Formats: sequence, C-alpha cells, structure tokens
Amino acid sequence: MEKLRTTINQIAYTPRSQQLITLSPLHLSLIPLLFISSSLYKTILSFRHTLYHFNFIHKHRLPVPVISVGNLTWGGNGKTPMVEFVANLLVNDVGISPLILTRGYGGADEAKMLQRHFDGTSVKVGVGANRAATAASFLHRHEFINPLDIACFEEVVPKARVVSDKIGVVILDDGMQHISLARDLEIVMVNALAPFGNHHLLPYGPLREPLTSFCRADAAVIHHADMVPDESLSEIESKIHNVNRILPIYLSAMSPSHFFKAPNTSCRLPLGVIYEKTVLCVSAIGSPNSFVQKIEKMGPLYVDRLDYSDHHQFQDKDIKMIKARLENLKNKFDLEPIIVVTEKDYDRDSKILEGLDPFEVLVLCCKLHVLNHNGCSHDSFKKLLTRSFGKIHC
Ligand SMILES: *[C@@H]1O[C@H](CO)[C@@H](O)[C@H](O)[C@H]1NC(C)=O
Ligand SMILES: *[C@@H]1O[C@H](CO)[C@@H](O)[C@H](O)[C@H]1NC(C)=O
Repeated sequence: MEKLRTTINQIAYTPRSQQLITLSPLHLSLIPLLFISSSLYKTILSFRHTLYHFNFIHKHRLPVPVISVGNLTWGGNGKTPMVEFVANLLVNDVGISPLILTRGYGGADEAKMLQRHFDGTSVKVGVGANRAATAASFLHRHEFINPLDIACFEEVVPKARVVSDKIGVVILDDGMQHISLARDLEIVMVNALAPFGNHHLLPYGPLREPLTSFCRADAAVIHHADMVPDESLSEIESKIHNVNRILPIYLSAMSPSHFFKAPNTSCRLPLGVIYEKTVLCVSAIGSPNSFVQKIEKMGPLYVDRLDYSDHHQFQDKDIKMIKARLENLKNKFDLEPIIVVTEKDYDRDSKILEGLDPFEVLVLCCKLHVLNHNGCSHDSFKKLLTRSFGKIHC
C-alpha cells in the first residue's frame, strides 16, 4: 500500500515534460489507466457541481456565517494550522466564539491537536463526518448569536472583554469538497512546496478539484511561502490569477514556538534545547522537508531523519527501526540523541511513541502566521474574515 502510494505520488508530482526522463517503465505503464480514472472522476465531479448549482440538491445553510478552509490537492498544505489561526483571530481580535467543524480522518490526529490547543477556551471543536448534524448539535447545546451584534471591529479589542460562549461563526475544516454546506467565505490553501503537481485530477494527478475552482474562492493562501524562492511564488500566483484575476492571494508560513517533552504536554521547552545536540527527526506528514529544515535552523550538531507517508500509523517494527537509528547515532557521536516529532505525529500515535523510552522525545509546536505581501497582511486578512459577517441570512 505504502509503495503504491509513493508510486502514484511520484507520477502526480512529475511535470508532464519530465515524465519520459524521470519515470520508470512501470510508472509510465500506469499512466493510461490513471488518466482514464482521472477523466471519470472529473465527469462525476462536474455533474455533482451542476446538481448543486441548479439547486437539484439543496445546500444546507447554518444560522451563523460559515468560513471554509479548503484545499485542491492532497498532501500537507496547512489547512489545520490555518483553521487554528482563523479561530484564534476571531476569538482574540474580534471577540467571537467560533465552532470548528472537522471530519477527523487519518486517526483523528488533527482533530485531537485542535481540541488540545483550544481546551479551556471558548473555541469549540466538533468532530464528525456529517458536518451539518455536528453543527446542529453544537448550535443547540451552546446557542448561537449574530456576530454583528457582538463583534468589535475596532483595531484594538479590550483585553478584559469577556467573549460570549454562544457560537458566532463556523469554521469548516476541509470545506472545499464539502459543497453540501453553504458558506460565506471560501479560503483555499495552496502548498508552495508542492502546488499543483502535473495539473491533473485524482488519481493521475494530485488535484481533488480542477484549478478552475479558484473561481469559487474568496482568497487563496500560499502556505510554506518562506520555503521557496520568489520565482516559484510568482509562478503559483500567476497560475491562480489566470483562473481568477482578482482573487486576493495571501502568503503564510509556520514558525516554531516551542517544544513539549512527551508525554507531558505542559512541560514546555524553548527551541534552544536541541542546540549542539544530535537529533533524529521522525515524521509522517505531508511536508517533511519543511519540518526538518526548521529543526536544522535551531543549531543542532547533527540531524538524521526518517520520513513516512502522510497519516502513516507507526507500528512496532517502525519503533524498532527508529531505535536502531538512535543506537547508531549514539555510537557515532557518543551523545544521547533526541527524537523530534511533529505535533500531528504525536497526536496520531502518542501511545506507541512511548516505546522509544528511555530516549527523549520532543514534540515541535508551530504556529501559522500571515506574511506581508503586496498589500495583503495580517490586518487585511482579518478584514476579509469580518466582511463575511455582512452576508448572513438568518
Ligand atoms: C485535502 O482535502 C482532502 C479531502 O477533501 C483531504 O483528504 C486531504 O487530507 C486534505 N489535505 C490536507 C493536507 O489536509
Ligand atoms: C508536567 O510538566 C509540568 C511543567 O514542567 C510539571 O509541573 C508537571 O509536574 C509535569 N507532570 C508530570 C506528570 O510529570
């Protein structure tokens, strides 16, 4: 399974002009089949959109504004950090309690992380495949409020202001494909490190939606923008603007904030703790390179890495292999190596990572921020969010 995924991934992210040079005969022989499946998928997708477009199927509308954070491709593209960023901005800067609706796939690791981060705050996290039903139950339990009645649209929100527990806005995690729920603002995330692959739909390419979907978007956010050269950013921007000329494009990046020492999530450590240490980065995420590059910037003596595919569940045999690597490092440098994992990996498999004892496991915590770029900034992003409140229909 792992092998098939890697194979398909390689095909999806190889530009058409390079296929003959870089792909093996086995890869090339798969292309016709993938191409046909991809065309079939396209037909079904556009049929589904047509049904919704002409109201053959009714969209469900919630009594509060809905902000959707979606993606066009598979792989790590910063959707969950963006959802968290939007929720924090709404609760801290605007003073409105959001409800996050997430499906909770891949061992629910992302949902668990969201729940931990918002534990004890007025941000609610609803997990479930049927988002309309999850929303209904939360809106019933906590009640809801028109955000225009409470929002403080001034620049500075008084710190002492108590945020109402009533839900004022819904944030839809991974909303792009979930078209049955009506939304007021559509934010589409693009991963700068792996934007659109070969531009084909699944399974031949990485796209879950054609690029023309940018027409339905209100903003695009190019995530991991700090990790690619400016030319790559301009190229992505021009591809987006080819589809939707007026779409605002924001840039975002993750910056590490601290570590915690597993399994104690309250034991926070500064980023400097790995300085001059030997480190093994273990991850099963969409963008392992960006994770490893961040660790390298913290000044460790040596960095080794083990990358697994996105959402991979660690098994006992993986733990054995990780331990073997650690023993190697220990012998080579005569230093106790430290394992560093991402929060996502920790939440997916915190139990099995305990098998790494007595080695120290540090969990890297990061936060998304919006970069200043062509007049798009943190402040203009906030305005974009609050503008969606004007469109409610309750
Ligand atoms: C992008 O969306 C699809 C479903 O719509 C999801 O399965 C996939 O995991 C998403 N990618 C990321 C990184 O969240
Ligand atoms: C977890 O870490 C915190 C902060 O360092 C500490 O106060 C607490 O006692 C630790 N809990 C456990 C169970 O070790």
